[in-house]
Amino acid sequence: MSSFGGAYQGTDVLLTGHTGFKGSWLALWLEQLGARTIGLALDPATDPALCTLADACSGLTDHRGDIRDAKLLETLIGDAKPRIILHLAAQAIVRESYETPLDTLNTNVMGTANLLEAVRRAGHPCSVVVVTSDKCYENVNWDYGYRETDPMGGSDPYSMSKGATELVVSSWRRSFFDPNGPIRVASARAGNVIGGGDWARDRIMTDCISALCAGTPIGVRNPVATRPWQHVLEPLSGYLELGARMLEPDGGRFATGWNFGPAVQSVCNVQRLVEGMIDAWGSGSWEDLSDPTAVHEAKLLSLTWEKAYHHLDWEPTWSLDQCLTATADWYRGWHEKPGSARTNCLSQIDAYESRARELRLPWAVGH
Ligand SMILES: NC(=O)c1ccc[n+]([C@@H]2O[C@H](COP(=O)([O-])OP(=O)(O)OC[C@H]3O[C@@H](n4cnc5c(N)ncnc54)[C@H](O)[C@@H]3O)[C@@H](O)[C@H]2O)c1
Repeated sequence: MSSFGGAYQGTDVLLTGHTGFKGSWLALWLEQLGARTIGLALDPATDPALCTLADACSGLTDHRGDIRDAKLLETLIGDAKPRIILHLAAQAIVRESYETPLDTLNTNVMGTANLLEAVRRAGHPCSVVVVTSDKCYENVNWDYGYRETDPMGGSDPYSMSKGATELVVSSWRRSFFDPNGPIRVASARAGNVIGGGDWARDRIMTDCISALCAGTPIGVRNPVATRPWQHVLEPLSGYLELGARMLEPDGGRFATGWNFGPAVQSVCNVQRLVEGMIDAWGSGSWEDLSDPTAVHEAKLLSLTWEKAYHHLDWEPTWSLDQCLTATADWYRGWHEKPGSARTNCLSQIDAYESRARELRLPWAVGH
């Protein structure tokens, strides 16, 4: 049995955000699953970029365009008639959202509305997974994970845009996409991802790897912030499973919001994460660069994923230590041999799927 019930083999998939960190990993995984993928995104925003290093666009039809362009989405979706849409494109950096709040709002909220409207106008049967974030919830700094039924919110512009994106999804679903009809739309909220190949600004792994490669201390801006850390392949397995399950005849029951978080042991503060990374790398140190005047970031954030466990049979595959080892191995491989990025990604996807099969996870062995 191939993963996700073979749903991706020979299937037309639209992946937005394929030039980004998660999107590049997902493009490679879709390639391995035999999907016929169309990617839509802007040019890579970083240099280096995983998309280029791992040649992640070689297995798909690569469109560069802006999701704020409603006409472009209407034409693309109307022509391609994808069976599954995985919508990841977004302005994804919290600190950037303070600098460009309107652009963030436009890309994340209107970009999603444009996509859903294009799906509605095309009228073609498909399942759509809209990727938002754990930050979509109104953060009340409590000790419990947020549930799918908790109120949307977000004080910074990025978090607010993800909460607002959820409202767009919910409205389009309730107004236009009857779950018993041919178009099914779900949203997915995952935690903070780590993994090889992330060079985005202000991400903790970007800071760790630059310092570890240079042999300098890792500057940590917010050591006490607690986050639900997970390897990038974890939420991607959730998105792929959701996209596949919504295609089932009664798949409308999956057309709702889903959390894909890590095990509680992986919800830890930045200091513990950085120390774990130093152990996995084999050397290094860190220094506290806390700035009391820095822009607001929530102190504690975690997700419950009991709904995904009970109804999608989904659960995390790797422990935090396995995530950190895979991440350190990936960057070490790239540091020693930059041309190894693609092979390293593909072999880590294989290793992840093998572990999921050992654990008899239904997405990997069949339901
Ligand atoms: N990385 C994380 O820890 C994390 C956590 C929770 C949720 N998410 C969400 O997952 C998704 C992917 O995140 P990522 O870390 O890969 O981000 P990223 O910044 O690495 O990639 C963003 C992608 O979106 C594309 N994009 C941005 N603006 C666009 C526009 N106007 N038109 C078309 N494409 C556009 C970029 O070209 C890129 O391909 C985002 O929706 C993000 O909000 C990420």
